[in-house]
Amino acid sequence: MNEEQRKYGANAKTEPNLEKDYSKYFEHVYQPPNLKEAKTRGKSEVEYHDDFKIDERHRGMGKGRKFYIRTYGCQMNEHDTEVMAGIFQALGFTPTNTVDDADVILLNTCAIRENAENKVFSEIGNLKHLKQERPDCIIGVCGCMSQEESVVNKILKSYQNVDMIFGTHNIHRLPDILEEAYMSKAMVVEVWSKEGDVIENLPKVRNGRIKAWVNIMYGCDKFCTYCIVPFTRGKERSRMPAEIIAEVRDLARQGYQEICLLGQNVNAYGKDIDGLEYGLGDLLKDINKIDIPRVRFTTSHPWDFDDRLINAIAEDNNIVPHVHLPVQSGNNNVLKIMGRKYTRESYLELVRKIKTAIPDVALTTDIIVGYPNETEAQFLETIDLYHEVGFEHAYTYVYSPREGTPAAKMKDNVPEKEKKQRLQRLNKVVGEYAAKSLKPYEGQEVFVLCEGTSKRDDEVLAGYTEKNKLVNFKASQDVIGKIVKVKITEAKQYSLNGEFIEIVSKEKVAH
Ligand code: 5AD
Ligand code: SF4
Repeated sequence: MNEEQRKYGANAKTEPNLEKDYSKYFEHVYQPPNLKEAKTRGKSEVEYHDDFKIDERHRGMGKGRKFYIRTYGCQMNEHDTEVMAGIFQALGFTPTNTVDDADVILLNTCAIRENAENKVFSEIGNLKHLKQERPDCIIGVCGCMSQEESVVNKILKSYQNVDMIFGTHNIHRLPDILEEAYMSKAMVVEVWSKEGDVIENLPKVRNGRIKAWVNIMYGCDKFCTYCIVPFTRGKERSRMPAEIIAEVRDLARQGYQEICLLGQNVNAYGKDIDGLEYGLGDLLKDINKIDIPRVRFTTSHPWDFDDRLINAIAEDNNIVPHVHLPVQSGNNNVLKIMGRKYTRESYLELVRKIKTAIPDVALTTDIIVGYPNETEAQFLETIDLYHEVGFEHAYTYVYSPREGTPAAKMKDNVPEKEKKQRLQRLNKVVGEYAAKSLKPYEGQEVFVLCEGTSKRDDEVLAGYTEKNKLVNFKASQDVIGKIVKVKITEAKQYSLNGEFIEIVSKEKVAH
């Protein structure tokens, strides 16, 4: 290993092998996903830092300037945007919610499927005219797409309106990257393959004062064969329990009503810290002692869903009885090729255990249809599993090949049209179960955390039950941010309508 690689990880590229040599633009660009190399990444390199500070020379950089961040993709990105907003504001920038008067525009991107990437490229294209009109405006691309070398190359070649590209491990470097973008004419590219660090004291400006995201771990080591995340987000790194608990306490003090513990695979929490006999179940039990009405966590992998975790949710506490448990497929062969590490039977056994311990649990899932060579019979097993579990809702996707992942190399005999039809057939079942799960609420009273006015009607307020059911009702705007009792009058396919009864001081999560 050379000096560069020691510093930036085994994948650090010292001599970019590009069609055309863009190496002068590169700092340390992540290589295309390489499963073999990624799987050998070490556990020991994680370093914990709490010494982030804004350098004197960067202070005031944003004086009189506005920033705008557009976020694509998952909650992890939403939360990264909150951190970047914190850094921008610490530099003296003020936020704006339109690109029209922004001095810095950041696209925080998602790489999970091709259509997510296409949206970003079309947005970068749309920003070309803005850059012509206002050449001083800085346009940046960050998030998961910037961890892909092919994306970086494409931007370098075809999107000269972009001023800076930085990766998911470089967020804390935003002040330096911005400074360089202001000073340099060339595109600034800073994408580290080194992913070992956990930086604790980054500033954050949270989006709202009702619900808050709290990272408990970063990265993923599951390497499902279709998924780009273990490459774009790096290896699993858990935050220390004391740091997480302190953050949740602080949020409770500030009056937040709900927190969502975040990670790509939260069930593996703690496993990467040597000598720590403490998992997600233990963390939930500790967080349960904090006076915050609702606690959620996402996303779970069935593999690490242990009894301690089930017990922690089952206890009469502030952990909501909602488990999002991605199954991806109901067929054993497909699950095997996906590298999911469980079978249809073991998944159903886990569901049985969860339902026994938490009888009124709401189960939701993620499903991919049209995996390479998925047969009609295999697809029907997924539908069959859906009926067997009776999921209350699901996020469903057509498989999208991601460059460098093992699945992308598989030959595929399923026509695109067939994949889309399978998705439609599955979505019909999802819709039926969603409606079926809402019908029994008619005439019932539920607790709703009111988040604001409805997207469709300013006169109507909206919020979610602890099982994540959307409820619309009329009441004074004073109840926004509070947990209220609502009597359900009508169940629609994906939401409930109801009548406001009263504000409740403390929600009782019924199990
Ligand atoms: N194609 C389609 N769906 C995918 N997902 C992850 N990778 C892919 C892909 N390559 C889905 C999985 C995962 C969710 C977040 O996105 O269902 O659980
Ligand atoms: Fe991707 Fe989730 Fe599998 Fe990790 S567990 S590889 S994030 S699908």
